[in-house]
Amino acid sequence: MRVESGLVDNQKGQKEKEICELKSERSDSDGGDKGSRKSNRRRDKKPLMAAATKTAAMEASVIQMLYNTCRKVFARGGAGFIPSSKEVQRLQLVLDSMTPNDVGLTPEMPYFMAPENGGVPPITYLHLYECKKFSIGIFCLPPSGVIPLHNHPRMTVFSKILFGSMHIKSYDWETGAKNDANSENLDQLNAQPPGTRLAKINTDTVFTAPCKTSILYPASGGNMHCFTAVTSCAVLDVLGPPYSDREGRHCTYYKEFPYCSAPSSSSELTSEGRREEYAWLEEVPPENLVVVGAQYGGPKIVVK
Ligand SMILES: [Fe+2]
Repeated sequence: MRVESGLVDNQKGQKEKEICELKSERSDSDGGDKGSRKSNRRRDKKPLMAAATKTAAMEASVIQMLYNTCRKVFARGGAGFIPSSKEVQRLQLVLDSMTPNDVGLTPEMPYFMAPENGGVPPITYLHLYECKKFSIGIFCLPPSGVIPLHNHPRMTVFSKILFGSMHIKSYDWETGAKNDANSENLDQLNAQPPGTRLAKINTDTVFTAPCKTSILYPASGGNMHCFTAVTSCAVLDVLGPPYSDREGRHCTYYKEFPYCSAPSSSSELTSEGRREEYAWLEEVPPENLVVVGAQYGGPKIVVK
């Protein structure tokens, strides 16, 4: 989902120097006992330096590790770029390990409270980082909060539920014979509501943290998805690349029409024996969607 980051981005242009800086060893030009003492000192230093390096690595926050990994994975990123399976796995591993604590969130925060007046539960967006190649942000949903069905044009997206339960329904465009305008499909085409396009369901499941990271691709994995909070929940999204109106990657919202409105069979068995489910999707403006930006208060990302 597209959310403007200007109001909540306080990190662009900030660069922090590394605190830990290890001094290089002096060159070994001395001889005799003096050289031997220096040599011993160097040997003594080695475990200390190793410990300091290890401590520095351990002190790097998980969110910093996520940013560093995104930089590598999306180094050649752009519209339609799909990272290699090895790179996908690398990023997935970092995300899979993430908890609310890693981003300074707790379920007791006001972002996750249902509105007292019973109105539409507002979604809070915490912007962490954005460049041309990728962005990192967190959506905070109160119970029953909904991010309506929307697309991610020419993007690869990683979604990690940090806590809570969320229903995810996702689709990909049907590109096979069902969308061909030939006589074989005439009945289905006649039943097609005007202005719609046929999509196949990819996911229709409730996910409860801790669970694996969901990944969608430009034409597979459920490129169009809808999030519905079963309980209060938070989901961290990595978009590669981010939405860009200037580059033609708009966020489009959709309304679903059941495919069973078609007079012929509404589902077929795949080779695995599963039923394939479909729906007609129509572009619509988002309804009942309230998104507010808030300041991210977790560990800072040191931008490189
Ligand atoms: Fe999304």
